[in-house]
Amino acid sequence: MLLLPLIAGLLSLGLAVALPADAGRSSSVTTVSIVKGHGYDIEEHQVQTSDGYILTMHRIPYSKNTGPDGRRPVAFLMHGLLCSSSDWVLAGPHSGLAYLLSEQGFDVWMGNARGNTYSKKHATKSPLLQPFWNFEWHDIGIYDLPAMIDNVIYKTGVENVTYIGHSQGTTSFFVLNTNIPRFKSRFSSAHLLAPVAWMEHMESPLATVGGPLLGQPNAFVEVFGSAEFLPNTQLMNMFGALMCHDQAISQAICTNTLFLLGGWGSPYINETLLPEIMATTPAGCSVNQIFHYLQEYNSGYFRQFDYGSSRNKKEYGIKTPPEYDVESIDVPTYLYYSDNDYFASLIDVDKLRYYMDPKALRSAYRLPEEKWNHIDFLWGLNVKEILYDRVIDDILNA
Ligand SMILES: *[C@@H]1O[C@H](CO)[C@@H](O)[C@H](O)[C@H]1NC(C)=O
Ligand SMILES: *[C@@H]1O[C@H](CO)[C@@H](O)[C@H](O)[C@H]1NC(C)=O
Repeated sequence: MLLLPLIAGLLSLGLAVALPADAGRSSSVTTVSIVKGHGYDIEEHQVQTSDGYILTMHRIPYSKNTGPDGRRPVAFLMHGLLCSSSDWVLAGPHSGLAYLLSEQGFDVWMGNARGNTYSKKHATKSPLLQPFWNFEWHDIGIYDLPAMIDNVIYKTGVENVTYIGHSQGTTSFFVLNTNIPRFKSRFSSAHLLAPVAWMEHMESPLATVGGPLLGQPNAFVEVFGSAEFLPNTQLMNMFGALMCHDQAISQAICTNTLFLLGGWGSPYINETLLPEIMATTPAGCSVNQIFHYLQEYNSGYFRQFDYGSSRNKKEYGIKTPPEYDVESIDVPTYLYYSDNDYFASLIDVDKLRYYMDPKALRSAYRLPEEKWNHIDFLWGLNVKEILYDRVIDDILNA
């Protein structure tokens, strides 16, 4: 989440033309090319949501070591804000969760939310025009996840899938399960990395600056309309340098997109991966996704988008947005969280643990590494030994 630059970007609208999120990036690095490069089979599947978005799913049907025979349970992986299916594969077979699951005999399906690099299509709307971007993570939860999971179940014939989400991929899981009860039997278990529901204690300095302004009910949405969030390289470099001055970490990390995802202040990032991370991230989102998170930071609620009281009444029938009833979720759920996560703070994760039904919440694992941050859950050094071995154990024993 890049809030300072976002403010600056909004204020300078009309003056500065933001560079497209993928400007200057080599478009040849994709989930497909990365996975193929490691010698695994990969399939691409297109799925249309009930509101017309055309999403790309990536599938590693089986590992070259385990082969295609036998019934394989399905693992469904959902990425976070500004990310994509590439998250799970770019670290390679030793540390990429998608390969590790594949080696365990899973049929691995990776989602891509509307608006990201692989899901920028719609039956009737052009991504070049504003109406395409009129969505936020609530829609990912109620449209994208259902369409993708139904497609997986249809194509594979399995009864249920194991859900693994990171960051916004956990938020959308909560949205789905609190809004569409028919899915609860579709998940054998859920494994939520850096879970984001309540956000009042988000420690990102970007949020403390951006939140009060941009987290107001419907701030800017009516003024500027929904738009693609286009990080501007110059602004990112500038604010990256400012941010990292305080955190005293290397410029190499600060001036790239990592800091935008909450990747500062960790000694764990595997620098070998930087070129691949930068080639695939940021993967695009709507500004509304960021506004909705900032509203949570401001209000202290985990609830639907706040349009302001009069439009809320039209949308929801009441003046305040409905809260997500996390207590009602009964999918066996495992949380994995850490002390140095600027987006999923300890206090907010504790609140989530408190509200979840104790019968559903099977475990909440606080990583022993004190400096582990939001994106180390994907790309930290030794992430396999520190985190994924445990996640896989939990999945197999769920
Ligand atoms: C998930 O599906 C498997 C096989 O299809 C079945 O044995 C199992 O009971 C299901 N689990 C849940 C929680 O529904
Ligand atoms: C860092 O990433 C590289 C490239 O995927 C990988 O070979 C290496 O094992 C990783 N290092 C650690 C300590 O996780």
